[in-house]
Amino acid sequence: MTNALEVRGITKRFGRLTAVDDVSFTVLPGQIMGFIGPNGAGKTTTMRICSTLEMPDRGDVLVDGQSVIEEPRLARQRIGFMPDSYGAYANTTIVDYLDFFARAYGVRGERRRATLERVIEFTSLGDLREKEIDALSKGMKQRLCLAKTLLHDPAVMILDEPAAGLDPRARVELRELVKALAQMGKAILVSSHILTELSEMCTSVTVIERGKVRGTGSVADVVRSVKPRTRIYVRVLCELELAERTLLERPRVTDARREREGLTFDFEGTNEELAALLEQLVAEKLGLFEFTPEALNLEDIFLTLTEGKLQ
Ligand SMILES: Nc1ncnc2c1ncn2[C@@H]1O[C@H](COP(=O)(O)OP(=O)(O)OP(=O)(O)O)[C@@H](O)[C@H]1O
Ligand SMILES: [Mg+2]
Repeated sequence: MTNALEVRGITKRFGRLTAVDDVSFTVLPGQIMGFIGPNGAGKTTTMRICSTLEMPDRGDVLVDGQSVIEEPRLARQRIGFMPDSYGAYANTTIVDYLDFFARAYGVRGERRRATLERVIEFTSLGDLREKEIDALSKGMKQRLCLAKTLLHDPAVMILDEPAAGLDPRARVELRELVKALAQMGKAILVSSHILTELSEMCTSVTVIERGKVRGTGSVADVVRSVKPRTRIYVRVLCELELAERTLLERPRVTDARREREGLTFDFEGTNEELAALLEQLVAEKLGLFEFTPEALNLEDIFLTLTEGKLQ
């Protein structure tokens, strides 16, 4: 499959500050890539370069095969950028606003009417179409901004903190919209500080800090690269001491300790080796009735890969 978004070694300096330092990653069609990193890490700058709003000092970005440096107009037609904040539009209704941007994208005549209906329906803005933008809540504004981003049916979507300031229901709704867009085959790069939010929808992740990529790939691969150990919670019918001793006798098991009504231990090995361990524990007749590997956690990745230094 060809990459929909290919970031190739981009560097961007502002004076003496290197905001983005040789950043590379790729997003495939249908993929949702989470872009995480502390404040000032270079996420927005990277996203602005991908959207042709900023030129890199070095490197290039291919958007659906088009270079942002060689063919910025073609790249722009294929990208939808939802910035982290957007301008005020006084005395403008939702439908006027969308109509204006559809015209700007060169969508004409009957096709423009159909396009407006399609995005209004997709973002459930129908009941509010005549409402003035200034009077919209934050969640409604985010929906509208997403709707605008969809008018020219881009192959690649870049969403800069779309969930910021949304209430829990609005966040769930946004997540479902983003997932639906991925299912339509769009490649999506989405930044957020709400990591539980991202882990619910992302298939892959890129971690950036002080302009440098600290890890990129599928969520599982990046977790494994930073956390080769799996933590497992078990509960047994037998005495906990017996279970603890039995566990610690096994290879690859470290650090068994009591937790709540059971035990947790760390395991460093493959899934096959973990399966073998589980079978052995069952054979030992410890009365094992719970065996839960800890869920992959973006928060762990974030805290392990970044040092918390600002620039
Ligand atoms: N136009 C600019 N001029 C000078 N410095 C800039 C400019 N834009 C960004 N920077 C600096 O570049 C660095 C990266 O900023 P950027 O906005 O890309 O970070 P971010 O990862 O999006 O952070 P946040 O999570 O706070 O949104 C910061 O140190 C910022 O101050
Ligand atoms: Mg930002």
